[in-house]
Amino acid sequence: MAKENPFVFGKAAEGSYFTDRTEDTKRLTANLTHGISTILISPRRWGKTSLVKKVIGDIGKSRTSTSGTEIKCVFIDIFQCKSEYEFYHSFASAVIKQTSSKLDEWVEMARTFLSNISPKFSFGSDPMNDFSLSFEWNPQDDTESDILQLPEKIAQKKGIRIVVCLDEFQQIADFSDAVTFQKKLRSVWQHQQNVTYCMFGSKKHLMENIFNDKSMPFYKFGDMMFLKKIDTEEWVDFICKKFNDSGKSITAKQAATICEATENLSSYVQHLSWLVWYKCDKTVTDSDISGAIDDLLEQNKVFYQREVEQLSELQVNFLRAVADGISAGFSRKDVIKKYRLISSPNIQSVKKSLQKKDLIDIDGQTVAINDSLFKLWLKRQKFYE
Ligand SMILES: Nc1ncnc2c1ncn2[C@@H]1O[C@H](COP(=O)(O)OP(=O)(O)OP(=O)(O)O)[C@@H](O)[C@H]1O
Ligand SMILES: [Mg+2]
Repeated sequence: MAKENPFVFGKAAEGSYFTDRTEDTKRLTANLTHGISTILISPRRWGKTSLVKKVIGDIGKSRTSTSGTEIKCVFIDIFQCKSEYEFYHSFASAVIKQTSSKLDEWVEMARTFLSNISPKFSFGSDPMNDFSLSFEWNPQDDTESDILQLPEKIAQKKGIRIVVCLDEFQQIADFSDAVTFQKKLRSVWQHQQNVTYCMFGSKKHLMENIFNDKSMPFYKFGDMMFLKKIDTEEWVDFICKKFNDSGKSITAKQAATICEATENLSSYVQHLSWLVWYKCDKTVTDSDISGAIDDLLEQNKVFYQREVEQLSELQVNFLRAVADGISAGFSRKDVIKKYRLISSPNIQSVKKSLQKKDLIDIDGQTVAINDSLFKLWLKRQKFYE
């Protein structure tokens, strides 16, 4: 029998792989069961998808809002959607599929609420559980608004509430005519009484641009949650337990070293823990940990090298300064000299360009590198020698 892997990375953490986030779970659950649309933002791989899946899983189990009405959750990942059309398509299919469990009900909902666009179903090998939906697209009609209305209409008909979760929502900023599209969404969604939205994604600057800019349609659409990292204390408990449960042992101090090396970035904590776990015999040694860190850097080396190759010398120099712990004061003479940053007017544009590439996060005046391992890799490079 295959042994259970004690750690997970590369896919959402569920069940016993999911740790902490008690406060976040509480807040998001309260919001979504009380009709408060929510925007969840964090850099990549901190745990947005895991958190939302956990919360909607819990809601699905209890199934009711505080007023006793049944709640159904719809989860849509729009990462693959490159255009409005693809968005509407995914949206309509997911809403129909995930709010009904029976084939005849799918067909009925589509025929009732999307009759103007002649919905057509095609069924695969398992027609009772899966289908794909196509429809005639006529921009002159109210096609778009019909589709955007769909969850509200289904909720009314079934006497339920619906929570629609949209993963990788920052993607819509890349659609052509993105602002007009956002206006359409907002103008329909803001009137819905029985549907709550949870939009989440990385690329903080794009998400903030969509939701935090007064001139944008989704300005103040809901509660903004900025996900934080999981504390070292929580991680240490989690890591020690996972080792113990699988018959191996690690000290709290060693587990804390894993957190330190990865700066508590969720996916790296799990990945590094896994490398340490399979490398060690029954008891972890400090050299297992340093060896695992080297391995993880080695595995990611090609990505980091490629990243750096695409940057200008000034951009790399700036990143090196941030990697060395400088988070502000980039126009100080000694900093400019040490990291060859030329002059301060350039620094603003370098910051903006690196933020656009999602390599750094700017919080007020403070700059930080998003990917903790990339940071460690940069620190270990000898660029000028
Ligand atoms: N609450 C958690 N407990 C334990 N591990 C977690 C938790 N949240 C995330 N992780 C770890 O981080 C990884 C990435 O999580 P997830 O995919 O949820 O992040 P994300 O923020 O949605 O990432 P992306 O920005 O790439 O969409 C998981 O595979 C898991 O290793
Ligand atoms: Mg995600």
